[in-house]
Amino acid sequence: MHEVNLLAAHIFDHCRNSQLLVDLGAGLGYLSQSLHELNPDFLIVGLEAAEDRVEKARQRCIQHLPPAASSSIAYHQHFIDRDSGGYIESQASELARKNSCQDLEKMSIIGLHACADLSVTAMKLFLELPKVHCLHIMPCCYHKLELQSSCHEASDSHLFVNFPLSSALQRSVETRSQKPILNRPFLRLACQRTKAHWGPEYTEKKHVDHGYKMYMRALAEVLRQPKETVKPIRTAASSSSNPITFSEIKRLYQLESSESGLNVDWIDSHQDAFLQLSEKFPDNQGPRLAEALTCLQASLQNLCENLVLLDRLCFLEGEAVKQSIPVSARYESIFDDKVSSRCHVLIAEKLP
Ligand SMILES: C[S@@+](CC[C@H](N)C(=O)[O-])C[C@H]1O[C@@H](n2cnc3c(N)ncnc32)[C@H](O)[C@@H]1O
Repeated sequence: MHEVNLLAAHIFDHCRNSQLLVDLGAGLGYLSQSLHELNPDFLIVGLEAAEDRVEKARQRCIQHLPPAASSSIAYHQHFIDRDSGGYIESQASELARKNSCQDLEKMSIIGLHACADLSVTAMKLFLELPKVHCLHIMPCCYHKLELQSSCHEASDSHLFVNFPLSSALQRSVETRSQKPILNRPFLRLACQRTKAHWGPEYTEKKHVDHGYKMYMRALAEVLRQPKETVKPIRTAASSSSNPITFSEIKRLYQLESSESGLNVDWIDSHQDAFLQLSEKFPDNQGPRLAEALTCLQASLQNLCENLVLLDRLCFLEGEAVKQSIPVSARYESIFDDKVSSRCHVLIAEKLP
């Protein structure tokens, strides 16, 4: 709600002269519905890849908003990619026509938690579509970026379709003899919680509990076989005062077959591996190490995320120059990063 309300208020302030908003990755429709409450005159096209979410968004609209909202907000199931420009234009024109808006001149692209490649696609569509005059999008889940088809996960430095994007970062990577590691773990670091989450109110006891939880989870992950997955047992509470034993792992985690999804039993070979690891980290060193790594992640997170965000900004500005579109673009941090770790919203406007 924190994110929905703040982003909606921000868009309401900045897009007053937009006749139509296109919400990319609309999910259950929270953002579009909050915007309708702020200004019932907004026409909103919500695009979402998952059919069940589109259906839920339509239902929520009927249940929670006045009847007029069902005419001014339209949700469609559509996977948004680089070629979605024509589809967006046709859905926007259709909604405008239904609402007797004859001359659709100004549109905005918006999105909350536009994960992985979606926020990059949004930048490209912003430049491509002449009627779109501004973009307000909050990116997330950088670690889910798509790999180029020629790459596979095993290589150290992965090549993603949309990272690095800017010629500046691409050049910098190519000219260094020691290549920076811009792989999926790097992108995972970029989308960790920010260090604000670990402020002074995060007491020593909380660190101890968190370290214990992380270590137990890591142990369970290391013990599983390749075609097994580990699921926490929801009803089993973890407590850092419990000893680190194999029976505790069994009490906290269920093994599943990644092929059939059926439960798999913990067996002697898992226990043997557990005993070997326990010798490696005696005297409760495991949870302490896990928490130290968490703190290290928190201190690197900002650096990694900044690189991803600046790379995108440079790309957008570079493409705008190439296409002779005067654009002003910046990030604004509009959320409280203790509540929402992804707090940067990309704001781009085409200048007259
Ligand atoms: C993290 S959720 C955010 C949902 C919503 N914006 C919100 O904040 O409540 C991201 C949504 O984007 C959708 N999505 C991701 N990539 C997409 C794409 N390329 N085309 C359409 N939808 C996409 C996902 O299905 C998911 O519902």
